[in-house]
Amino acid sequence: MRLLLTTSRGIEDIAGREVEKLLSGLGVSFRVEEKPLGVEGRLLAEVEKTDYTDKKGRKRKLSLSTYLNERSRLLHRVIVEIAGERFEGIGGEEPEVALGRIEEFVASLPVERYVKVSESFAVRAFRKGKHRITSVDMARTVGKAIFERLSKLGSPQVNLDHPAVIFRAELVGESFFLGIDTTGDSSLHKRPWRVYDHPAHLKASIANALIELAKPDGGSFIDPFCGSGTIPIELALRKYGGEIIGLEKYGKHLRGARMNALSAGVLDRIRFLQGDATRIGDYVEGVDFAVSNLPYGLKIGRKGAIPGLYMGFFKALSGVLERRGVFITTEKRAIERAIEENGFTIEHHRLIGHGGLMVHAYVIH
Ligand SMILES: C[S@@+](CC[C@H](N)C(=O)[O-])C[C@H]1O[C@@H](n2cnc3c(N)ncnc32)[C@H](O)[C@@H]1O
Repeated sequence: MRLLLTTSRGIEDIAGREVEKLLSGLGVSFRVEEKPLGVEGRLLAEVEKTDYTDKKGRKRKLSLSTYLNERSRLLHRVIVEIAGERFEGIGGEEPEVALGRIEEFVASLPVERYVKVSESFAVRAFRKGKHRITSVDMARTVGKAIFERLSKLGSPQVNLDHPAVIFRAELVGESFFLGIDTTGDSSLHKRPWRVYDHPAHLKASIANALIELAKPDGGSFIDPFCGSGTIPIELALRKYGGEIIGLEKYGKHLRGARMNALSAGVLDRIRFLQGDATRIGDYVEGVDFAVSNLPYGLKIGRKGAIPGLYMGFFKALSGVLERRGVFITTEKRAIERAIEENGFTIEHHRLIGHGGLMVHAYVIH
């Protein structure tokens, strides 16, 4: 069985390690490939057998997709692969030719193994790269091919709003992929605990990637610009044993963070404080780990204020940070200057895809 797993661009390695850890716990043999066919934000997990022995020694059939949907903190979707193909030259082709190739390919696939004719289905399509077709064209074409194939066995039903089975078709560059989306229409990074929606909230998957980069091991942990609390809440949900603090300047966001933590069932695990991160030393004497997504110029509307804010924050942080910091921002120049001028060293840098932008993540000590 092959699963296509999606996550944010730039954290495929961290998500891959999580998947390997989850699968290792099952005793099944598997292989995880990052960026299959060079496609970013994707992983391919190949699992040889899906039987396992439970704690009472009984042989059981494993629903791998359910297992990953329920346990992963870094994945966005779990898709059971039906087939993948490389369509050379599809980018420059006339729409009828490109869609004709996709239709012919999908029509040849045994989709009836994945959906009962009596079950309603829909096709969701995703396209990235240069093509002369749209994702709407793709969804229609793939849907037609599946419908015609199933029509030979009965009367298939399409239900675009509430389908029982979701087919996912992806065309990224020249790579085409068809699968069954076991996650459903709401991506896993949209956490059910989020009752307060901060305008610049971090995806929970990226919050977990930043936590992995910080490698907190039980020491005290702070998010000094915690907004709606995504990072502290996700850390608390991982049953972190150490102290967790969320600092935020504005009361409205802090109240939202508390509501989110309450809804996640971890309010008693996080100390939320209202205050200014450029005076972090007023709230904590020392802290082992600091992880945050910093205010970006674009989001707070006053881009000119960013270099001064970062300089003030990293100066204050240099007086309290004892182990490691992880920060994410679009403002490369301002953060690098503030990090270096305040005596920190950049241990690691990477780009992560967030909200259509590539943002810079830094691990410092
Ligand atoms: C990018 S948002 C963080 C979003 C958060 N990670 C989440 O998922 O909701 C940055 C936050 O920093 C807060 N902020 C701005 N200046 C601040 C300061 N000097 N001290 C503390 N918080 C500040 C903003 O109000 C905003 O909520």
